[in-house]
Amino acid sequence: MKFFIDTANLAEIKEAHDMGILDGVTTNPSLMAKEGISGTDNILKHYKAICDIVEGDVSAEVISTDFAGMVREGELLAEIDPKIVVKVPMIKDGVKAIRYFSDRGIKTNCTLVFSAGQALLAAKAGASYVSPFIGRLDDISTDGLGLIETIRTIYDNYGYDTEILAASVRHPMHIIECATIGADVMTGPLSAITALLKHPLTDLGLEKFLEDYRKSNS
Ligand code: G3P
Repeated sequence: MKFFIDTANLAEIKEAHDMGILDGVTTNPSLMAKEGISGTDNILKHYKAICDIVEGDVSAEVISTDFAGMVREGELLAEIDPKIVVKVPMIKDGVKAIRYFSDRGIKTNCTLVFSAGQALLAAKAGASYVSPFIGRLDDISTDGLGLIETIRTIYDNYGYDTEILAASVRHPMHIIECATIGADVMTGPLSAITALLKHPLTDLGLEKFLEDYRKSNS
């Protein structure tokens, strides 16, 4: 399973990259705003800075909600770097835009997906990635991981190439469950990824090894 980091924070992206486990980055307008990035020029420059750190795909989201606007913005974003994946919302014009980009070899990530029907539409339109938001479904007492499982079955039934990008991942168990189900990619905060490192027996075991070394080498 590929590990993407869901942030526009350059220091966190670099930290994940330096660990050697980072396959890509996802962003959204809220994450860009959180970093204080505004204005088209600054936004485009920031995406370029992200692309310069990572080796994999970088999702950059359009703000327009009409077909012509999404195409205009998406083409501008795609020019920044070959790593850019145009992130398009799951609305009617978005589906149309995904087909447009797909026919022209521009990679897309269909975002704000909350149902299997939406995921099916994204795949039929030729999306490179589909992003079901599992954390936000869990927030409203709906089974986010169950949706990943259903989409996996549907895509496998018909051999769709669209990669399932489990988004809105909040904690390490989400990551483990996504890997168990067979999501192609997960995206989450750095804290959820580094939480995978943690086990008390690792800490205790290391402490004991070092203590024994110190005793026999003093
Ligand atoms: O980038 C989309 C998604 O990952 C958002 O996550 O935590 O805001 O629900 P969250």
